[in-house]
Amino acid sequence: MTQEELFKVLVAHCKEYGFIFPSSEIYDGLAAVYDYGQMGVELKNNIKRYWWEAMTRLNENVVGIDSCVFMHPKTWVASGHVAAFNDPLIDNKDSKKRYRADVLIEDYLAKIEEKIAKEVAKGKKRFGDSFDEAQFRATNPNVLREQAKYDEVHGRYKAAEDANDLAAYKQIILDCEIVDPISGTRNWTDVRQFNLMFSTQGSNTGNGDDVLYLRPETAQGIFVEYLNVQKTGHMKIPFGIAQIGKAFRNEIVARQFIFRMKEFEQMEMEFFVRPGTEMEWFAKWKENRMKWHVALGMGAENYRFHDHEKLAHYANAATDIEFNFPFGFKELEGIHSRTDFDLGNHQKLSGKKIQYFDPDLGESYVPYCVETSIGVDRMFLAVLSHSYNVEQLEGGDSRVVLSLPAPLAPVKVAVLPLVKKDGLPELAQEVVDEIKYDFAYQYDEKDSIGKRYRRQDAIGTPFCVTVDNDSLNDHCVTVRERDTMQQERVPIAELRALIDKKVNMSNLLRKL
Ligand code: GAP
Repeated sequence: MTQEELFKVLVAHCKEYGFIFPSSEIYDGLAAVYDYGQMGVELKNNIKRYWWEAMTRLNENVVGIDSCVFMHPKTWVASGHVAAFNDPLIDNKDSKKRYRADVLIEDYLAKIEEKIAKEVAKGKKRFGDSFDEAQFRATNPNVLREQAKYDEVHGRYKAAEDANDLAAYKQIILDCEIVDPISGTRNWTDVRQFNLMFSTQGSNTGNGDDVLYLRPETAQGIFVEYLNVQKTGHMKIPFGIAQIGKAFRNEIVARQFIFRMKEFEQMEMEFFVRPGTEMEWFAKWKENRMKWHVALGMGAENYRFHDHEKLAHYANAATDIEFNFPFGFKELEGIHSRTDFDLGNHQKLSGKKIQYFDPDLGESYVPYCVETSIGVDRMFLAVLSHSYNVEQLEGGDSRVVLSLPAPLAPVKVAVLPLVKKDGLPELAQEVVDEIKYDFAYQYDEKDSIGKRYRRQDAIGTPFCVTVDNDSLNDHCVTVRERDTMQQERVPIAELRALIDKKVNMSNLLRKL
């Protein structure tokens, strides 16, 4: 399935089952903006809870805050976002569409890679067991030609990126004859830098000259509250401040669903340390965050670190945790050693002393900082795309099942009276009363039991509990497990414990 086809399937599934809707759909939607529906909000909240509790409960030196989207405009000067938070954009004069110049070039390079992979696959088919891929790549004229083209363009692209040379980006686009996918023409404007921050006006003076930015990251809210939290919480270094909240970026994107949005949520933690110890903490947080991901059971092989060779000016180490999305390994989380860049700049620009007196050293310093930063929506997409399966069943039937990690599932248990009569709905209601204080549940008495199972599979409900005529006498119910579809007879009195064992978030946290 191509990326586009897979997104189509996921988008349709998310919409049909109330996970995600395009924003303002009755007005034909808004590009790269999505709303979470009745199922989506539950899954999203569970992801956030898993992160929040892992951060603030399992680390006794990490506390949380909730700062505002609006911050003093100088914040974004100090952070470097006003000067340097830019994307190189280019417009097609015929379609009037805007693109990221770097993405157009990367797509072009990806197509060359695809051509090479096709040639290699053909060779494999032709030569069978005797196929020597290295030799084939070193001698096949088609592969050599495409590889030379790739190396040349890739080299120029990296040089343009390093030098931030906008004219060079445009020249590559012209030389490679890259066309606009909509108009099919090469009628391009020059490449320009666009700042990704959204701005609006504040009303402090009422004369319209107060530019306010919608925060492009939650981290700065943590940095400007560093002193307040450190003092009021009597925090001793090393310590961390965690936050979950909305961030906004004017992303120019095409067909990436919730991977790249204009309004999204971040879960960020800034860990303040003594200068000189940051590399040790960077390594610890890398390990800690990878453990958090792997504990979900989506396969350790689906994650990898991608260490940055080219570092941002404020970082002395940086890595991404990449996840194996259906469209390849892509960044899910960033971990940065940000030195004293942020606190130091806020100190300079605000004129307020932002320092920590270290009683062990007997001196004051601006703390260094190690950051972990993950997008909630991107995590949602990782969980959803990994869990979505179409299974072939015996008898030629098939089912769509979301094999979500059980503690993240929006609904933990469905209670289903076999028929809508004979006292079964009443007994099912008693079952609901038994479980409703502990678990998110659905009660469903519509349609055949098979159709009801399918509906629950499609939203990832780990357990279906069926109340039948025997239940009236033996006070037992049939419990069907989502992934194996196996059924067992369980006394109603034991139901809570059985469900809890699998869906309780604390069991997940205990793995960390
Ligand atoms: N404070 C550091 C920071 O914001 P980033 O790499 O720009 O770093 C961190 O963003 C994470 O936020 C990314 O790894 C990704 O998961 C998420 N993210 C960034 N931009 C996003 C967007 N436009 N839509 C959805 N998630 C995004």
